[in-house]
Amino acid sequence: MHVVRTVAGFTGALAAARQHGGDVGLVPTMGALHAGHRSLIDRAVEAHAHVAVSIFVNPLQFDRGEDLASYPRTPESDLAVCAEAGVGTVFAPSVSEMYPRPPVTTVRVGRLGEPFEGACRPGHFDGVATVVAKLFSMAGPSTAYFGEKDFQQLVVVRRMAADLSMPVEVVACPTVRAPDGLALSSRNALLSPADRRAASVLWRALRTGAAAVAAGSDPRAVAGAMAEAVGGEPRARLDYAAAVDGADLSVPRAVADPPSLRLLVAARLGGVRLIDNCDGRSGPGALPGPGAAARRMAAAVGAGTPRSVAGSRDGDGPAAGSLAPGDGEG
Ligand code: PAJ
Repeated sequence: MHVVRTVAGFTGALAAARQHGGDVGLVPTMGALHAGHRSLIDRAVEAHAHVAVSIFVNPLQFDRGEDLASYPRTPESDLAVCAEAGVGTVFAPSVSEMYPRPPVTTVRVGRLGEPFEGACRPGHFDGVATVVAKLFSMAGPSTAYFGEKDFQQLVVVRRMAADLSMPVEVVACPTVRAPDGLALSSRNALLSPADRRAASVLWRALRTGAAAVAAGSDPRAVAGAMAEAVGGEPRARLDYAAAVDGADLSVPRAVADPPSLRLLVAARLGGVRLIDNCDGRSGPGALPGPGAAARRMAAAVGAGTPRSVAGSRDGDGPAAGSLAPGDGEG
């Protein structure tokens, strides 16, 4: 595995890989790698001769200095995760390598970046799109893997690649969850133990929303049911809950209208913002089973150390008597 810190080193490594006849899979990350990232990497490694993982905490997409400063960083265990997974190149540049000068030319995301995360974090998606455009430009023709965990980001990136005719195919990967349903996130490490226990309220809200969809409620009522579920957890403060068209994030007139219906939720626990989403018709999936692997994972996530989570896999699959209907994330 090559670890490169410069743009020239990165493009050079991928050019060499292509010369050897290999196609390229790209997994952009901000590090603090956990089993969610690992699922994207594994998917890429299965499909491509050469896989590149980028690790870069992108200042352009943070609107608050403290959030950027407190973002978890685990460089050593990140490299161990990548090496174990069979990654060919890790690109881990410094801020000054990525942005030698403050950029004058940036990507401006239109209406897809305005609601939800965009409203809560002004400029966030312009920052994401700009760094992803740079990474796509460096990587060249390739297949890039993104998690459904950040659903609005996935929609924004996919649309950017199409709008700007980038030679990159964007592949969506399902959300990996802890045994209590909480979507794995580098930010989970920042939760206090009590907030970590309360954080599964997001998963419960999605499940409540999917039940409301199944009962034929309209999108506003589905959103209301999710908001009420979050409200039932005194430690959580709701940012938004919505039932949207998965293609363009617009709110449909009826839940049956769009071919793809998506439920979105965001809430704060303590100072930490968490987001989650699921397919509106199949729900957030069953809870991972109560097996030993799942218990170890719960302990690791509860302790809030991304290092101990990295490299482990999620749970034992759906358990008998699990709380959720449906067969996984769509
Ligand atoms: P980061 O939060 O590190 O996430 C990197 C990728 O991992 C994203 O595509 C994200 O959706 C995916 N991911 C995170 N948690 C996941 C989970 N529990 N299950 C499945 N996939 C998961 O997203 C970013 O970095 C940045 O915005 C980036 C795209 C790298 C641009 O800076």
